[in-house]
Amino acid sequence: MDQGTERAMQDSNGMDDGWIDPPALSAFAAAYPARAVGLAHRLTNHPLLRLDALAALAGRLPDDHVEHSLGNLAVDQDPDAIARIAAHPADIVRTIADNGCWMVMKKIDCDPAYTALVDTILAQLAPVTLPATGRHQRREAFLFLSAPDAVTPFHMDPEHNILFQIAGTKTMRLYPADDPAIVSAEQHEAFHRGGRHRNMRFDPAFDAQAETFMMAAGDAVYVPVKAPHWVQNGPTPSISLSITWRSDASDRAARLHRVNHRLRTLGVTPSPTGAAPHRDAAKIACHRAVKALSGAARRAVGRRRDRVAY
Ligand SMILES: [Fe+2]
Repeated sequence: MDQGTERAMQDSNGMDDGWIDPPALSAFAAAYPARAVGLAHRLTNHPLLRLDALAALAGRLPDDHVEHSLGNLAVDQDPDAIARIAAHPADIVRTIADNGCWMVMKKIDCDPAYTALVDTILAQLAPVTLPATGRHQRREAFLFLSAPDAVTPFHMDPEHNILFQIAGTKTMRLYPADDPAIVSAEQHEAFHRGGRHRNMRFDPAFDAQAETFMMAAGDAVYVPVKAPHWVQNGPTPSISLSITWRSDASDRAARLHRVNHRLRTLGVTPSPTGAAPHRDAAKIACHRAVKALSGAARRAVGRRRDRVAY
């Protein structure tokens, strides 16, 4: 267990039940890590999640931790056709009810005011997550603000994620992470190579596999790693908190897809992930060894890695 989780578990000893309702925690335990599940939480009136606190946060975050655009997007959105307004992030937060925008504030757990909150939530999850998928890695928290009726297009994310609805309503439609008719092996491999926009092509035929969550303030949804989804905001401004983490399990899967991508570029068709566990383990061990060596070589010559990959 990392120090942050340990400290937060100590801090949360004084809490009666925590930020997630105990029955919801039992449902989470039954679903984690593979299945999506709806949960209930108690963060709705937290002072750090009110609009004035979020405007102050947007004003002090580094520029590259804030992304925004107009929210009138399609589920099947062309990433090159997304527009944004010229305004200061704090002003976009204050006027979210009328400005038509979608905004994400990234890595808010790096802000001292929010670190303890994120630690405490993860500590409440730890008795479920740590035995199932290993220690929390690359923990990150995001705040999403969206104008009425904004759409977050079809995409998938590389982390385990719990999305907490703080204000407003939204409809979240989730698709299975392991259906090759929705996301092919080649798409998984390209995703882990990085460099592509996160939005993916959507086919309405995918809806036959979908699970829909109608979220209001006090609701949350656990989203499994790389479960594709899109989100439609309701008729009022929406505030959502997303707490994410990687795990030993998600790290192994990512390494496996990167090795399979390399094999494919060499003209070899790799066996599907999970079909041959011993071969998968050998690929993962090989990837770790090669990355350790190349990392050491880069450090020796003072070069940094500049490509972002999942
Ligand atoms: Fe997402």
